[in-house]
Amino acid sequence: MDNSEKADPWSPINYKLHANFVPKLVEHSLITLLSPKPYERILDLGCGDGMLTYKIQESCKECIGIDKSQHMIEEAKLNGCKDVRVVDCEKLIEWANNEGFVGYFDSVFSNAALHWMKNQEAVIEGIAKCLKPGGRFVAELGGFGNVQSVEKSLISALDKRGYNGKDLSPWYFPSPEDYTQILSKYKFSVSNISHFSRPTELPTTISGWVETFGFSFLAPLEDNEKEIVKGEVEGMCRNGAFNSETDKWTLDYVRLRTVAQLSS
Ligand code: BEZ
Repeated sequence: MDNSEKADPWSPINYKLHANFVPKLVEHSLITLLSPKPYERILDLGCGDGMLTYKIQESCKECIGIDKSQHMIEEAKLNGCKDVRVVDCEKLIEWANNEGFVGYFDSVFSNAALHWMKNQEAVIEGIAKCLKPGGRFVAELGGFGNVQSVEKSLISALDKRGYNGKDLSPWYFPSPEDYTQILSKYKFSVSNISHFSRPTELPTTISGWVETFGFSFLAPLEDNEKEIVKGEVEGMCRNGAFNSETDKWTLDYVRLRTVAQLSS
C-alpha cells in the first residue's frame, strides 16, 4: 500500500469492478422509500461514487453528497453529481456548524455507508443537527450478522498471524434493537426498521471483494502475505459461498433498513 492508498484506501476502479451491485440493488426500493420531493433539501451521507446522489438530485431542490473518501468524491463528480464534498461523517456536527448546515436539510439519506462508522452516536447526533425539526432519516446499512462468513475468515486469518483480527475490523453491524436505541437517544421516532437477509451474488470473487472492502485487514501485511490471506479467505468461504455449477460467489449480506423522523 503506498502513501496515497494509506490516506484513502478506496478505489473507484475496484468498486466498479467488484461491487457495482451496491447502488443497483437498492436504487428503486430505497429511493422510493425516500421519495424525494421537489421542495426538499437532501443530504446523501456516505455517497461514494454518487450513483444514488445523481438519481436523488434529479427529483429535489438540492442534494448534497458527502463522503470521507476523496477518490470516491472525484468519481461522484465524474458521474454528474452537482454538489459532492469530502466530509468525515463522524464529524458531522463540526461540519454543520462550520458550513452553515444546522437545521438545513429536510431529509438525510444513506445507503451502505453507515456501517463504516464505528462512532455511530456521533453520526446520528450529527444527522439530527443537520435536519430541520421533523426531518426524515431514510437509511440502509449492514445489519447484525452481515457478511459474517468473510469477516470471521478475515479475523481468523489475521489472528493466526499474531494480529488482533477483531480490532482490525472497521465495521459496525447493529441489531434493530441497538439501532432504535441510538436513534431514540437523539430524538428520532422510528416508524420502520427491518432486518433481513439479502444473499448477494458477486460480479467477481471473494478475493476481489476483500481487495475492495477488506483493506483494513490487509493493511498490516506485506504484499505477498496479502495474496496468501485472500486465498485463505476464499478457501474458508468456499463451502457456503461458491456455486461450482454457475462459477459464482454469493455473500451473506444482511441489511438493516430504517425510516425515522426527528422530533419537531
Ligand atoms: C455492506 O454493504 O454491507 C458492506 C460493504 C462492504 C463491507 C462490509 C459491508
